[in-house]
Amino acid sequence: MITAVLVGAGQRGAQVYADYARLHPDEIKIVAVAEPDERRRQWAAEQHGLSEHAVFTDWNELFAKGKLADSCMICTQDRFHVEPVKKAFELGYHILCEKPMSPDPGECLEMGRYAGKYKKTLTICHVLRYSPFFTKIKELLDGGVIGEPMSIQHMECVGFWHQAHSFVRGNWRNADESSPMILQKSCHDMDILCWLVGRPCQAVSSFGSLSHFKAQNAPEGAAGFCMSGCKAERSCPYSASKIYLRDEGPESFRKVVAQSGTREDVREALAAGPYGRCVYQCDNNVVDHQVVNLLFEGGLTVSFTMCAFTPEITRLITIMGTRGQITGNMLNNQIEVRDFLTGDKTIHQIRTGSSGHGGSDERLMQGFIRTVETDGAYSLSSAEASVESHLMAFAAEESRLTGKTVYLDEYRARFA
Ligand SMILES: NC(=O)c1ccc[n+]([C@@H]2O[C@H](COP(=O)([O-])OP(=O)(O)OC[C@H]3O[C@@H](n4cnc5c(N)ncnc54)[C@H](O)[C@@H]3O)[C@@H](O)[C@H]2O)c1
Repeated sequence: MITAVLVGAGQRGAQVYADYARLHPDEIKIVAVAEPDERRRQWAAEQHGLSEHAVFTDWNELFAKGKLADSCMICTQDRFHVEPVKKAFELGYHILCEKPMSPDPGECLEMGRYAGKYKKTLTICHVLRYSPFFTKIKELLDGGVIGEPMSIQHMECVGFWHQAHSFVRGNWRNADESSPMILQKSCHDMDILCWLVGRPCQAVSSFGSLSHFKAQNAPEGAAGFCMSGCKAERSCPYSASKIYLRDEGPESFRKVVAQSGTREDVREALAAGPYGRCVYQCDNNVVDHQVVNLLFEGGLTVSFTMCAFTPEITRLITIMGTRGQITGNMLNNQIEVRDFLTGDKTIHQIRTGSSGHGGSDERLMQGFIRTVETDGAYSLSSAEASVESHLMAFAAEESRLTGKTVYLDEYRARFA
């Protein structure tokens, strides 16, 4: 069993990682929490049976007490990872930190340097590495079932309502407050591609823009809030009431709108709160679609698409090799392997479990616990690998903004 302190008892910290501890007390115990929001702090204290001496309003206060546990889980928002990570390293914690590491490439590299200097582990929550789906694809590739992989088509289907929730109305709508979407959402994809290919990326080019969720596309009669007499509400797929008040809507999103998640509280929060806003009248500036081309060492090419305008949230991947092809859809967890020689088609149906991100959230925690227990001897990723995938995302954003191909060697050298 390991112990952990939690920095940031928000959606990820409290409802995913600390909740794992609540459900698996023989594996990990939360011994202290830092959280400025009083309701969240109290809830976390109750859930984990913490005394008032183990509950803090800010990570500075928590860290002022010295090292209280084996590990530290840092689940604050994108721009508030680097300082607590550095302090936690100085205190000797093994660290689990949410992605993205930071919206600043220099800070990502600095976090990587701290991991090297303090000889403790930094696990960035790149959950896809732990997913049964991508684990199987990695196993197939490493087993040589399609010969030498030559080219990959990878697509991140964001889901139209997910885009509206997180990237138009919600926490990650504005890159100046959080991160560019290719970093915030698709650092997972950069990471999984790097992991699958197993070789460094050499060059990146990208196009994309915010095209739809803008004032000029507002339908006639649109009101500032969906529930305030909007005349276009009935014909708008992005209507807040359609997204949050229908029975089959996602409960985790409702809980972001109103902590209780009840229909009454959600309705009240939508009336004048951020998640009730018209998607054409928000202060959003992140893209709604972006493509990235990647060249890996040895000539392997990747074409990646991230798009808001999809009916489902999923990832689709096709890997073309010299002797066959792998095609997978994370939504139904099916992977198909075609063999050029025999003509055989094999379907692998992957079992995932019920935790978030196709069973990845739970497995990430299991992996982190093992990493801490073995003092870093076991690790599915590393600070170095995470820095690399973040740099690919930064390079993609630079390419999108400048229209130029970015060469990773030159890009890395700029921050050396
Ligand atoms: N791995 C994934 O797949 C995944 C999925 C969603 C979000 N995320 C990332 O997780 C992070 C957190 O997202 P979230 O949705 O949980 O956000 P959230 O806003 O719900 O939680 C962040 C919490 O940090 C707290 N906080 C702020 N300042 C603090 C301080 N000084 N000390 C301690 N706590 C402080 C906030 O009060 C809040 O409760 C973000 O970086 C996000 O990008 C990752």
